[in-house]
Amino acid sequence: MLELDWSHLPFGYVKTDYNVRCYYRNGKWGEIETSSSEFISIHMAASSLHYGQEAFEGMKAFRGKDGKNRIFRWEENAMRMESSANGVMMAVVPREIFLESIVKAVKMNERFIPPFGTGASLYIRPLLIGTGARVGVKPADEYLFMVFVTPVGPYFKEGFKPVSLLIARDHDRAAPKGTGRFKVGGNYAASLAAGEEAHAKGYASALFLDAREKKYIDEAGPANFFAIKGNKYITPKSESILASITNKSLMDIAKDMGMEVEVRPVEVNELDSFDEVGACGTAAVISPVCKIDDPLTGHTYSYCKDGQAGPVSTKLYKRLQGIQYGEEDDVFNWNYIIE
Ligand code: PLP
Ligand code: COI
Repeated sequence: MLELDWSHLPFGYVKTDYNVRCYYRNGKWGEIETSSSEFISIHMAASSLHYGQEAFEGMKAFRGKDGKNRIFRWEENAMRMESSANGVMMAVVPREIFLESIVKAVKMNERFIPPFGTGASLYIRPLLIGTGARVGVKPADEYLFMVFVTPVGPYFKEGFKPVSLLIARDHDRAAPKGTGRFKVGGNYAASLAAGEEAHAKGYASALFLDAREKKYIDEAGPANFFAIKGNKYITPKSESILASITNKSLMDIAKDMGMEVEVRPVEVNELDSFDEVGACGTAAVISPVCKIDDPLTGHTYSYCKDGQAGPVSTKLYKRLQGIQYGEEDDVFNWNYIIE
């Protein structure tokens, strides 16, 4: 039996037994290969290294109460990777290769899927990079798709405890017609300075605004933003944010709970009117937000009472995790059960 402190896992890298690789050469994808090496060998002029031709995904496998292992909404991640690949002119990974690779990576590392009840899960990281040598700025002709997995705990160390956010007034993550809607590495490089500044000041994450007017909320670092106001679930509509699969799922759950869902531009000015605020994503699940500070005005927006998450966020969180861990009926047909 693998000895890991499952209930206290950070969101970090743990070496597992195998990873999966598939190469695109001469206009076609090759066979799916497995490797036990954590390293890859690529050309020093690879387009991914110089011109950021890369995209990744983040998804999770959960060991259920019934002992079955489930992958959450893989097809959504496959489609998003397709969109990211097109966004930065890379070869698209066929859906069958995507599925076979993630299933293989999970199955071959079965002993790393955290036990049920620990709150941990197996994070799956599909990665697509341009490997072809390029000096001129143009797309590569060769690509590598790979998948590794790593057991993880909560992304924000607080877990389901409320966190604070700092509005990024001096940084933008993505331009309106830029690459913000794709899951490409450049967006994360662009978010590092704001993120580190926020961390250094004791915040869990930066809260990015729209780059054009700095008037609307975009997203909370590596997670989407949502707010609860009465019976409404409100989340930003923006062309520069990543369309979160967790957010999409929470919207379905909210509707199923009889709530109204609004996807629309959300002004910073509205922050005072919300009952609850949260950040959501595969890694973050739901991170309830306790307070948001705006360095421009010096204003603090507060949400949580007694340091606890609000009742609606708590309900949404329980329902989502209940489905992911197989404790509740998968009424939306989101889980892929690994045989
Ligand atoms: N926004 C950004 C920038 C992210 O990196 C992520 C993580 O994937 C999300 C939002 C949440 O998306 P998802 O729920 O699909 O994981
Ligand atoms: C995720 O939620 O899966 C992410 O990719 C977020 C982050 C670790 C980049």
